[in-house]
Amino acid sequence: MHAIEAQSLTKTYPGGVEAVKDIDFTVEAGEVFGLLGPNGAGKSTTVGMLTTTIIPSGGRALVGGYDVVEQPLLARGVSSVVFQEAVVDRSLTGRANLELHARLWGAGSEARMSELTDVLGLAELIDRPVSSYSGGERRRLEIARALVSEPAVLFLDEPTVGLDPRIRHELLDVIAGLRARHELTILVTTHYLDEAQRLADRVAIIHEGNVVALDSPGALLSRLGAEILEFRVDGDPHAALAALRLKRLASDDAFAVGARVTVPLHEHTVAEVLAGLEVRASEISARVPTLDDVYLQLTGAELAVAA
Ligand SMILES: Nc1ncnc2c1ncn2[C@@H]1O[C@H](COP(=O)(O)OP(=O)(O)OP(=O)(O)O)[C@@H](O)[C@H]1O
Ligand SMILES: [Mg+2]
Repeated sequence: MHAIEAQSLTKTYPGGVEAVKDIDFTVEAGEVFGLLGPNGAGKSTTVGMLTTTIIPSGGRALVGGYDVVEQPLLARGVSSVVFQEAVVDRSLTGRANLELHARLWGAGSEARMSELTDVLGLAELIDRPVSSYSGGERRRLEIARALVSEPAVLFLDEPTVGLDPRIRHELLDVIAGLRARHELTILVTTHYLDEAQRLADRVAIIHEGNVVALDSPGALLSRLGAEILEFRVDGDPHAALAALRLKRLASDDAFAVGARVTVPLHEHTVAEVLAGLEVRASEISARVPTLDDVYLQLTGAELAVAA
């Protein structure tokens, strides 16, 4: 059994916005799965459907083997979610928030609470009102809260948004640590490439409601080979690309966005490709490909780069 299974999952909002279009993916137990895409790609809508807060317009989704439409209580019972927006009560202490949630769920022994406080680095703060927490501290409390009910599947919707780079990295470590300690399946959404690369076993790149690629970060990267050449051209970049393709110096995986051309080098050298160019190039650089290049190649749109 898969931990999460989406089959032709679709959401069209009233008014006709096709937020999620017929997507398929499965997540195995114990896997960390990344949904990577820019603003408006359909990430939160997908998480909403998997956590039973948004009703799909088509297709099917199972969480822990339970159908999110036909068995919503059971599906919710095996999962937890940390939403993009804050949900903890700011006037209460961290401890009171956790205890409240534990009572709601009829879960959370003393031992579990102190373990979570410990794992998420909350020991010093737990008895202070949440209104005094920093953004990163509040995110850690929200993750602790989500883990009180001992879920098999944890959904994190943009867990690091709005956090400074140092706190982001700390939180990523915490998330990476969770899977080591607990037998958790994690689905995490992000528009930060480095996050997906660092955390996820596999990544689905989602663009305008479609899954445009799904693989391990390494496999996605290896599509472009070991090195890419990037340059700007005066004139039509698509014509420049066509000329390189004719000479077999570029293949189908080369692409142009704006005036910038990217050519995976594969067996060619920088000098060979530049010599084959019939227009003037500037800002020439050769470098190792990143997930951003994969994303650009697939969608022609640029992802956010983390600060
Ligand atoms: N309740 C709604 N009614 C109508 N359209 C909606 C609703 N919620 C979301 N949308 C639209 O659906 C699309 C996908 O939105 P969604 O929130 O799933 O994107 P996202 O990938 O989570 O983006 P972000 O990175 O900004 O959080 C967007 O075009 C959005 O405007
Ligand atoms: Mg979102």
